[in-house]
Amino acid sequence: MTAAAIPHIPADRLPALLRAMPKAELHIHIEGSLEPELIFELSRRNGVAIPYASVEDLRRAYAFTDLQSFLDIYYAGASVLVTAQDFHDMAWAYFLRARADNVVHAELFFDPQTHTARGVAMGTVIDGLHRACERARSELGISSALILCFLRHLSEAEAFDTLEEALPYRDKFIGVGLDSSEVGHPPEKFARVYARCRTLGLHLVAHAGEEGPPTYIRTALDLLQVERIDHGVQAIHDPELMQRLARERIPLTVCPLSNLKLCVYPSLAQHQLKALLDAGLAVTVNSDDPAYFGGYIADNFVEVAAATGLSAQQCWQLAANSFEASFVDEATKAGWRDQLDACFARFG
Ligand code: ADE
Ligand code: ZN
Repeated sequence: MTAAAIPHIPADRLPALLRAMPKAELHIHIEGSLEPELIFELSRRNGVAIPYASVEDLRRAYAFTDLQSFLDIYYAGASVLVTAQDFHDMAWAYFLRARADNVVHAELFFDPQTHTARGVAMGTVIDGLHRACERARSELGISSALILCFLRHLSEAEAFDTLEEALPYRDKFIGVGLDSSEVGHPPEKFARVYARCRTLGLHLVAHAGEEGPPTYIRTALDLLQVERIDHGVQAIHDPELMQRLARERIPLTVCPLSNLKLCVYPSLAQHQLKALLDAGLAVTVNSDDPAYFGGYIADNFVEVAAATGLSAQQCWQLAANSFEASFVDEATKAGWRDQLDACFARFG
C-alpha cells in the first residue's frame, strides 16, 4: 500500500485504528516509564526515601513549566532503581503497556549516568534492561533494542568514561543518544565522543530542537553525524533546514504530549506535527516519558490526530515512517508494513 491507496476510514473509527495499528516506538526514555506506583514500590523495596507522602502527592508535582522543571523530578524518581531486578521490572511494565498499544518494536533510551553516579554498576543497569528485552521478545513477540544516552549537562570527559564503562556490554546496546538539558549544551560539545562511537559501529541519534534552536539540529547532523533527530520540532522555524530534512529523509522522533506538558506548545492544536508531515519530513510519533506526560504511544497518536485533524493517510504515513526509521533490516520492515496495510484494509 502507498499513502495514496489508503481506504476511506470513517472519522469515528480513527481512534480505534490508531490503537490497533502496528507501530514502532523510537523515542522512549525507559526511566520515563516509571509510574508513581512503581516508584513507591521500589522506594519501599530498597529503603530509598523519596520526598513525597503518597502516589497522589507525587502525581501532583507533575506540573511542568519547561524541560528542566521536568528533569529535576525525573532524576529524583529514578533514584529508587538499585538492582538489576528493578531495571527489569520497570522495562517489563513498559513492555506490557507497549503490547496493549500494538507496538511491535521499541528502541529504548536509558541514562546510565543517572545510576552510576549513585553507585549502581553499569552491568546492573544493562543486565536488568536486557533481560526485560529478551523476555518481551519471547513472551510478547515485541522486538527491542537499547540506546545508551549521554547526559549533555555533564562533561565530555564523563561521557567518554561512561562509554568505556559500557564497552564490556557492547553487544547489549545498538547505539548512543544525547539527552537532558538542551539549551547551553550544544551537540558540538560531544563531537569527539560521537566520532569514537562511530568507529565502534554504534547507531547515532541525538535530542535536538526540542527547546533548542534549529542550529542544534544542523550541528547534530553535521558534527555528530546522527541518523535520526529526537524531537526536532524547532526545525519548523528554518525553511532551508526543513528542505534538507525532507530531502535526506532524516527521521524526527516527535513526542506530542511531551511537547504539550513541557510547554513547547500552549495547546496540542498548535503542535506543528501536521506541518512537518506536509513538508515531507519523516516524522514519527512517540511517548518520550509516558509516566510523566499523561499518555503512552497510542494516546499520543489519538490525541494529536484529534487536536490537529490528521487524515487516515497521514496516520498510515506516521506508522510507516516508524518502521522506515527503525534500526532493523529491510525484510523485517517490509513484514511490519504488510501488517500495517492489513490493519488499514480491515478498518476501511
Ligand atoms: N530525558 C528524558 N526526557 C527528556 C526530554 N524530553 N528531553 C531531554 N532529555 C530527556
Ligand atoms: Zn526524549
